[in-house]
Amino acid sequence: MYSNESTKKSKHSGSSKKRSKKNTWGSRERTSMSFLIVIAFFAIFGIIILTEVLMIDDRNSVQVRHVNVNNRFSESVPDYEDVKEDYADDSSIFIRENRFAASAISSLFKKRKLDPQDKLMSGIPVVPDNDPNSLSWGQMLPSKIESNLPPYPPNIKAKDGHWQVVNGTRFKFFVFSAYYDRRDGRMLRIIGATKTRSPEKVWCRMWYPLDGNNTKFRSISVMARVKVIRENWNLKYSACFILCPLRLSYLDVPYSVSVVSKLRMPPGNILLLRNTDSDQDFTNRSYADIPNKIAVCVKPLHFNYDQAYYMLEFLELNNLLGVTHFTFYNHTIGPKANCILQHYMEGKIPQTFLVNSLLRPNSGDKNSTGDLTSHNDNLTTIRSPKITVEILPWNLKMKSQKEIRTEGLFSSLNDCLYRNMYRYSHVALVDLDEFIIPRHNDTISDLLDWLSKRVNNKNTGAYSFQNAFFYLQFANDESIFDKRIPNSQLRATLVTQKKTRRRQKLHPQKQRSKYICKPEAVIEAGNHFVWEFRPSMGSLNVPSNSAILHHYRVCEFGGSDCIKSPSVEDKTAHKYSSRLVERVGSVYEYLKDTCKLPNLPLTPTKAPPTRSKSLRIGKLGKNVVNTTTNNLEKNDVKIKKLSFS
Ligand SMILES: *[C@@H]1O[C@H](CO)[C@@H](O)[C@H](O)[C@H]1NC(C)=O
Ligand SMILES: *[C@@H]1O[C@H](CO)[C@@H](O)[C@H](O)[C@H]1NC(C)=O
Ligand SMILES: *[C@@H]1O[C@H](CO)[C@@H](O)[C@H](O)[C@H]1NC(C)=O
Ligand SMILES: *[C@@H]1O[C@H](CO)[C@@H](O)[C@H](O)[C@H]1NC(C)=O
Ligand SMILES: *[C@@H]1O[C@H](CO)[C@@H](O)[C@H](O)[C@H]1NC(C)=O
Ligand SMILES: *[C@@H]1O[C@H](CO)[C@@H](O)[C@H](O)[C@H]1NC(C)=O
Ligand SMILES: *[C@@H]1O[C@H](CO)[C@@H](O)[C@H](O)[C@H]1NC(C)=O
Ligand SMILES: *[C@@H]1O[C@H](CO)[C@@H](O)[C@H](O)[C@H]1NC(C)=O
Repeated sequence: MYSNESTKKSKHSGSSKKRSKKNTWGSRERTSMSFLIVIAFFAIFGIIILTEVLMIDDRNSVQVRHVNVNNRFSESVPDYEDVKEDYADDSSIFIRENRFAASAISSLFKKRKLDPQDKLMSGIPVVPDNDPNSLSWGQMLPSKIESNLPPYPPNIKAKDGHWQVVNGTRFKFFVFSAYYDRRDGRMLRIIGATKTRSPEKVWCRMWYPLDGNNTKFRSISVMARVKVIRENWNLKYSACFILCPLRLSYLDVPYSVSVVSKLRMPPGNILLLRNTDSDQDFTNRSYADIPNKIAVCVKPLHFNYDQAYYMLEFLELNNLLGVTHFTFYNHTIGPKANCILQHYMEGKIPQTFLVNSLLRPNSGDKNSTGDLTSHNDNLTTIRSPKITVEILPWNLKMKSQKEIRTEGLFSSLNDCLYRNMYRYSHVALVDLDEFIIPRHNDTISDLLDWLSKRVNNKNTGAYSFQNAFFYLQFANDESIFDKRIPNSQLRATLVTQKKTRRRQKLHPQKQRSKYICKPEAVIEAGNHFVWEFRPSMGSLNVPSNSAILHHYRVCEFGGSDCIKSPSVEDKTAHKYSSRLVERVGSVYEYLKDTCKLPNLPLTPTKAPPTRSKSLRIGKLGKNVVNTTTNNLEKNDVKIKKLSFS
């Protein structure tokens, strides 16, 4: 750049010498030279701006490289570009593990001079000393070795859903929860986080109570297999499963389990095994008879998340959509969101609302969710389905985005999947700024019912929804400036109500798409699609004219340029307007003082001026291009406008 500039300069100064006597020429030269300097200045300035835009750290992407790639090839390169091949070495983990375990066992054998008969008795096949590799993972230690291992640690409390350390590893190794997975061969499935490549080898010490008080335990130990969860963004650490099979049919399901790296070291963790067979509410239930309910999983809340209105809108709109249970992970939550969640968690939110039926717009806004009892002509009581909320602590000691992807979200998503399995027929994995909104149906349950009648549903393990960006920089919906709408002030704070313009082009499936799955059909959950189903199960791509993922966020590459892309108005979420406003309003009033919720922001009085050409990067919501005229999406079904007058 700079050298170009100087050569140009010298050329010009040379030519100006030639014509030094002609004053007019000189001034013209000067003019053109300053013009060139201005051009060069703008070019350099432009490059600086461009680099800055490219370098801006989209909260989702750590490395500049990712942003870059996404920016240039956003339509062709998926978010997870580098993960698939990682899984190719899964089989070698398996082999390495075998080797390690075999040598570990044979060293134990040597030390303790094991009787071959003992090996047979304890379920370990007799292994010829010259072929240690024929031992495989999941086999039990001989009882003589077992009885010499450190006992149940008396000073550690068995916990579920809490990060605990695996002692004695070279690299960080943590475990969070343990599930009894009975689906394809019985096994313990432990959710953890550890090194992405060549994870260290560990053992499961399974604890069986010796007395009725669960104070004394004996152990059975098996070699574990560490299966790194496929989505890891090439970072040093990953979410993982630690698998410990219960191969022998007479082996009972343990009460708790410790993951250890060295058998002779005292365990540093005890995980309570989650086993629905021993849960009270499962005693009389068939596993084929899962309650027809939807749960939502949200990745760890972080950066002191404290968007009070968003939180209320997320919970109440999802509940209107048919979701009854929410699982959150608490990395860091701000005081207001914390207070709101605490109240929901403790079931303290009033679940009955008086709805003035006269204020309901007729079109679309059906009162189908919940029981209805008519009070009088004008007032209707809605008993909304109870919202239940579970919040698990998430104190994972790994540096987010430097060591592990976004607070180890893949551990949380898979924990949530297994935690809700058999309790809810469907689990949706979405973020707080995302809503799966059916176009023609009122609830997601109605949509799934309808879909399951249209397609062969037997093999459907997940329903995938295409992503639509509703950029926050798009101008607000005009109706929020209409003071005649009841509760307009509250309504104007709800993002799904004020943001009705979306990027016309949807992302293709698997790119930023989100899904609702039947948890018992899934083995390994990813952020945008299921990585592994049980045999014969698969994903159904839900047609975009039935439902899409509404994703409310700022431009993904920084700046405000994204709103230049062709957009359409999509008022689908307005069908929930009055119900949502009533609910959020009632909870807001109830919690306003207790949770010190901020006052409602004043409603803007009129739409900001729109300009057709000029666009300034910077402040949000100002100087927005008029995109109304851009062509509507072809498969976009006409969306009825609600009339509130
Ligand atoms: C359980 O604990 C109580 C008191 O600590 C003791 O009396 C009782 O014998 C224990 N039961 C068993 C089965 O060990
Ligand atoms: C094992 O972990 C526990 C914490 O869970 C810790 O207190 C203990 O010192 C560790 N033991 C060793 C030998 O590192
Ligand atoms: C399970 O069924 C048995 C017999 O039908 C009954 O006595 C018991 O109360 C039931 N348990 C639960 C938790 O419903
Ligand atoms: C989240 O974690 C913080 C810190 O441990 C705790 O103070 C807070 O009560 C937790 N909030 C919820 C809702 O669990
Ligand atoms: C809505 O509520 C009214 C009044 O209670 C009732 O007459 C009507 O059938 C309900 N509509 C639907 C779709 O449930
Ligand atoms: C219902 O609303 C109508 C119109 O505003 C009003 O005339 C009527 O008195 C109301 N009925 C009751 C029972 O409140
Ligand atoms: C769901 O939407 C479909 C497609 O428009 C429609 O045929 C079906 O009746 C709807 N189901 C319910 C329960 O509204
Ligand atoms: C957008 O442009 C169209 C056509 O020029 C015009 O009719 C419409 O009023 C404009 N919309 C806004 C919000 O300015």
